[in-house]
Amino acid sequence: MKLPQSFIDEVLSRIDVVEIIEPRITLKKTGQANYSGLCPFHHEKTPSFSVSQTKQFYYCFGCKANGNAIGFLMAYEKLSFQEAIESLASKANMPLPEQGHFTETEKKPQTDLLEEAILYYRKQLAQNHQAREYLQHRGLTDEIIAKFQIGFAPSGWENLSRALVKTPEIKKQLVDVGMLGLKKDKTPYDRFRDRIMFPIRNRRGQAIAFGGRSLGDQMPKYLNSPESSLFHKSNELYGLHEALQANKQLKQIMVVEGYLDVIALHQFGMTETVATLGTAISTQHIQTLLRFTQSLIFCFDGDEAGSSAAWRALEIALPAMHTGLDLNFLFLPTTEDPDSYLRKVGKEGFLAKIQEAMPLVDFFFKKISSETEINTLAGKTRLVYLVDKYLQKQPKGVFQELMYDRLSKLVGLNLEKIASLLNPEPETPRKTRALLPPTKKLYAPLKLALSIILQRPLLGKNLEIPQNFFTIKLEGMDLLQKVIQIIQQNSPATTGSLLEHLQDEEQKPLVIELASQDILTPDEGWQDELQGAVARIIKNGIEQHIQILLAKGKKEGLTQEEKQLLQKLLLG
Ligand code: UTP
Ligand code: MN
Repeated sequence: MKLPQSFIDEVLSRIDVVEIIEPRITLKKTGQANYSGLCPFHHEKTPSFSVSQTKQFYYCFGCKANGNAIGFLMAYEKLSFQEAIESLASKANMPLPEQGHFTETEKKPQTDLLEEAILYYRKQLAQNHQAREYLQHRGLTDEIIAKFQIGFAPSGWENLSRALVKTPEIKKQLVDVGMLGLKKDKTPYDRFRDRIMFPIRNRRGQAIAFGGRSLGDQMPKYLNSPESSLFHKSNELYGLHEALQANKQLKQIMVVEGYLDVIALHQFGMTETVATLGTAISTQHIQTLLRFTQSLIFCFDGDEAGSSAAWRALEIALPAMHTGLDLNFLFLPTTEDPDSYLRKVGKEGFLAKIQEAMPLVDFFFKKISSETEINTLAGKTRLVYLVDKYLQKQPKGVFQELMYDRLSKLVGLNLEKIASLLNPEPETPRKTRALLPPTKKLYAPLKLALSIILQRPLLGKNLEIPQNFFTIKLEGMDLLQKVIQIIQQNSPATTGSLLEHLQDEEQKPLVIELASQDILTPDEGWQDELQGAVARIIKNGIEQHIQILLAKGKKEGLTQEEKQLLQKLLLG
């Protein structure tokens, strides 16, 4: 049962995030409406977990865990989205809406259609000898085929569309999620043809996409559903839902690259395994995984591509590293991938190989020193610079210090010497240049405007903005526009409610950072501050316009109208 957004908004507006968190974690009052405590999502000795009552939002300055009451319950109690809402609704004494109340008016959810497609493909598999033989040849048992609900899309252009499209609305929805394409005459055709079909589910178990493998040499080897409102590759992990179903707690999650790698490992009982979906691992992936475990092992193919993928994964993971985390890298022999290797050496052999996995720190220094000459001072200096470049992106803390210690041992220079190599100018101490948060460089008034409306969304509701405001070219303008639109349509009263509408936002890390920043102006000044920021952005827009006209005037001359406009703009 899908709950309507209006109900979710209503639930959020009736509960208090502090009341949800307080019974589970000891919180101390640190301000009028702020609380802090030890973060439940990473190991720490001093509190960096903060909860804001006004924003209805929590944020950890250490591990960056964040969210509203729903997100907290999902992360802390490992609840599904639906379960979290149900728990909050019962706390707020709100009965769940009855099914009949809204299903008639709501569209048939796209995920239900994808479930129908899964059933359809499974039926086709049962009827196709060649496809079943292929899977058998790859070593898949009937049991694992059923568990991952693997199916088969027959050849031909109109199988799925004939089976599923009953109304124009369904056709549109299947096009939207990428199952069907449209010919010039608007008749639909099947995207997936003559392929083994792997359903992709999100962590709550909803069907959101498919991966399709060709049986033979047809290219591409794998065809995946395109990005859609349901499916964002950089957020999703294949097998996570199954891993969560098979294990009460995930001790160590293994991250592999392919569908069949996940399936083979699950088949052999190593059910704490997930894969990215044909993309490099992303920050969101790592954050998702770290909600379930403190220990990851990245397993890569034993080829050149595997080794560069491993380094990319390290670069993504490094900023999230702290001493409580255990991240490891496993390299398989050349020409093997987890699936082939496992089937060759068996479970015992594979488990033995896992013992050889390299801790992140070892991999980091091994790789970086293999690329630098470290016997000369010039080489050492280069190495120091290179390492420092990576470590600067890290939060200050014990882990970072350990890394500098390790660097010091490696190059045989003490930390002071290293600091002086990095800071030849004595008046720029390390602190001032390193360790800035990875915020994008935003134009300050725009950043302020965003911070304010993310923290007090209702101030964005009646904001006076001129036409064309959003065409001003500034980084972050698209985000500002989107947020204001959401506010005008849904009137979320708090940060927590607003975030519920920004779940899939690509710039989420930026959103979180701005939402958790302190604004020093007293409350009653925020409205003016916001309007002032808008005024400065408008001024910047005018400035941009003037520059464009001046440049054009120089190059090719201006029309009469443009001249008048320029004059008007210059006079303000
Ligand atoms: P691989 O080429 O390593 O394939 O791609 P594989 O998983 O070992 O598959 P088999 O064993 O040959 O059947 C790894 C992953 O990269 C993505 C898929 O997610 C695949 O599982 N990929 C690969 C694509 O999305 N498209 C492609 O054409 C190839
Ligand atoms: Mn393979």
